[in-house]
Amino acid sequence: MLDFNGNFMADDAELREQFSFALRVSEILKTKYSTKPLAFVHTYGCQQNVSDSERLKGLLELMGYGFTEELSEAQLVLYNTCAVREHAEDRVFGNVGILKALKRENPDLLIIVCGCMAQQPEVAEKIKKSYPYVDILFGTHVRHRLPEFVYKRLNGSPRIFCNPDGAIPFKEGVPLRRDGTFKAWLPIMEGCNNFCSYCIVPYTRGREVSREPEAVLREAKMLIVDGAKEIMLLGQNVNSYGKGNKCEMNFAGLLRAINALPGDFRIRFMTSHPKDCSEELLVAMSECEKVERHLHLPVQSGSDRILKAMNRVYDTEKYLSLVRRARELMPDIEFTSDIIVGFPGETYEDFKCTLELIKEVRYYALFTFIFSPRPGTPAAKMPEVATKAEKSKWFTEMLKVQEKIAEEIDKAAVGRKVRLLIEDEDNGRAVGRSSENYVVILDGEQLPLGEFVDAEITHFDGKLHGKLI
Ligand code: SAH
Ligand code: SF4
Ligand code: F3S
Repeated sequence: MLDFNGNFMADDAELREQFSFALRVSEILKTKYSTKPLAFVHTYGCQQNVSDSERLKGLLELMGYGFTEELSEAQLVLYNTCAVREHAEDRVFGNVGILKALKRENPDLLIIVCGCMAQQPEVAEKIKKSYPYVDILFGTHVRHRLPEFVYKRLNGSPRIFCNPDGAIPFKEGVPLRRDGTFKAWLPIMEGCNNFCSYCIVPYTRGREVSREPEAVLREAKMLIVDGAKEIMLLGQNVNSYGKGNKCEMNFAGLLRAINALPGDFRIRFMTSHPKDCSEELLVAMSECEKVERHLHLPVQSGSDRILKAMNRVYDTEKYLSLVRRARELMPDIEFTSDIIVGFPGETYEDFKCTLELIKEVRYYALFTFIFSPRPGTPAAKMPEVATKAEKSKWFTEMLKVQEKIAEEIDKAAVGRKVRLLIEDEDNGRAVGRSSENYVVILDGEQLPLGEFVDAEITHFDGKLHGKLI
């Protein structure tokens, strides 16, 4: 909210203080630089992180920074990091390493590392010791304090390392600098209480906290007015939305409330945990015409023994009954999933159960990962059975099975009439996405991004093609 002088106001005293830091930073920047200094912001990891970066960029904008995609033009570099797999962390360390030379050329360059990696004490310690040119590191729970950190560092404070633990309520009122126009992220909750035995997220993001429905609905309305045609509701486990809130609204209720907002837009959400995927939610999905006919429902494994060791709290029978029920209610729905290959103790027999489940569900797409031990999680201490070579062989086998299924689904989609949201172009031809998640090329059509059109899927040649109807 703006006051009479155009300054940001917040109900929350802590945020008001941050806005005043931002103002002071903008004054420093005006005296320090003759032109608007530029920030290079790079985001690793999940959509939740992408959404957080929109708010971090909002704060940077408030401080007087512009933005660049060129590292060499930047006066401030911010890496919003992910810790979910070792590979993700290695990439960040590599990219932070590259900044050493830039800092030597430009000692005024402000280097900031934040997000899930920064929240972990061992990583913070490693950066403190081995990357002396990193100016500021802060964790996920204090990200609204970016203006304070930048102000202090610009004012000569020693390097800042701040990653306290503990859930804080989602900070309402942080300004937002949206990346897209017609696609919008809308975080509805933070954190995770599930402690799947392989996963670092509960440690980097803390316990679940849901935003109040009024705040979510207010933001949804703002996004719609701002031109959003697709709103992606975000949370590590959206199905447990609302637990602990003042008002009784659960995720099914929230979907219905957003669906009832006026406007032509589509609602998507991720991620759904099967253990909290209720009949009430599936019915709500089926009755809300703006909610996509697609459910990302990560199964992780098709072996009950492995699911137990993963602490996923459902078995394959429960999972398959959800899929069946969803299909009864929404015959045209498509499923996607996440799968981990090579969890400790997994044998080829277990892996074959996963293949069987994939064939039974017939997913439209899979996000597949080889197990990566995350220090501090229970699975990191479990003995591994399969070798690296075996795991990658299984992985390839799974991709082959999945590729065939996806192709069969695409072929079966030929002849269907779908509503597409134009989201891309391919050699001058408009490309749209349907509510089921089909990506369809409209040959000979040039259409503005963000427009809804009705089309018929005409053929498949490795990609789906269609024509307007
Ligand atoms: N909250 C979401 C997932 C967030 S992490 C959910 O529960 O579905 C995204 C995916 O990364 C997970 O679904 C899992 O498949 C994968 N993942 C998480 N930790 C992993 C690890 N240690 N090794 C390999 N894959 C992992
Ligand atoms: Fe990780 Fe499990 Fe939480 Fe998803 S539900 S974020 S996989 S602990
Ligand atoms: Fe990565 Fe953190 Fe998301 S660990 S997957 S950025 S919640």
